Amino acid sequence: MARKKIVAGNWKMNTVPAEGVELAKSVVAGRGEVCECVNFIVCPPFTHLSQVVEAVKGSDIAVGAQDCATEAKGAYTGEVAAQMIAALGCKYVILGHSERRQYYGETSESLNKKMAQAYANGLTPIYCVGENLEEREAGNHFAVCKAQIEEVVFNLTEEQFANLVIAYEPVWAIGTGKTATADQAQEIHAYIREVLRSKFGAAAEECPILYGGSCKPSNAAEIFAKADVDGGLIGGAALKAEDFLAIGKGF
Ligand code: PGA
Repeated sequence: MARKKIVAGNWKMNTVPAEGVELAKSVVAGRGEVCECVNFIVCPPFTHLSQVVEAVKGSDIAVGAQDCATEAKGAYTGEVAAQMIAALGCKYVILGHSERRQYYGETSESLNKKMAQAYANGLTPIYCVGENLEEREAGNHFAVCKAQIEEVVFNLTEEQFANLVIAYEPVWAIGTGKTATADQAQEIHAYIREVLRSKFGAAAEECPILYGGSCKPSNAAEIFAKADVDGGLIGGAALKAEDFLAIGKGF
């Protein structure tokens, strides 16, 4: 069965609106060089989501947010609701990124609420899991990923699960230049799929599982060649259209 191939760019807290629009336009301009089979997603900061949606209009590039609020609306100063994100024309939302877990106290409890908000508004979550260096060195990476999936993904209905993207991002590989080897990625992706299968059965075969963490043009092909790796969630290399597109050529 052919799973969706996805290359998603997580711009994090980078680019002012004009730069973001330019980056998005460059991705659109070069998109034709990459196989149509690749689904590209760009995830700019909230401030220019709407301008980037406009910039990619007419192309097959989708736009996602990097987070959403736990609540639907109301007195939550500084928060951005899933409904607002969807109203701009975004299709995706990254949830549970390790930087949000680490710096902003994101927990399975808050993530369950955010997932519910995403689905209630027709957004597809890109749910991130992954262990830190200490956990990897102690051999706990399987248990950590399993818990992050059980505590959140296992609460989804079958219908919601059919509309989910998972990103495995080892924290020790994010922004460090250290990439998991293709074999390390495959090992844990296959394990994650097995965990998903234990709950959702055959539907687990269709869930895209992306690798993230210092993924770049020079290593994408080797990692994407693995059976259970369905693409990448790209940070640093997503800020250069040329590199982002070159990663798509890794398929
Ligand atoms: P990186 O980030 O590609 O810069 O390592 C990946 C991510 O955090 O999504």
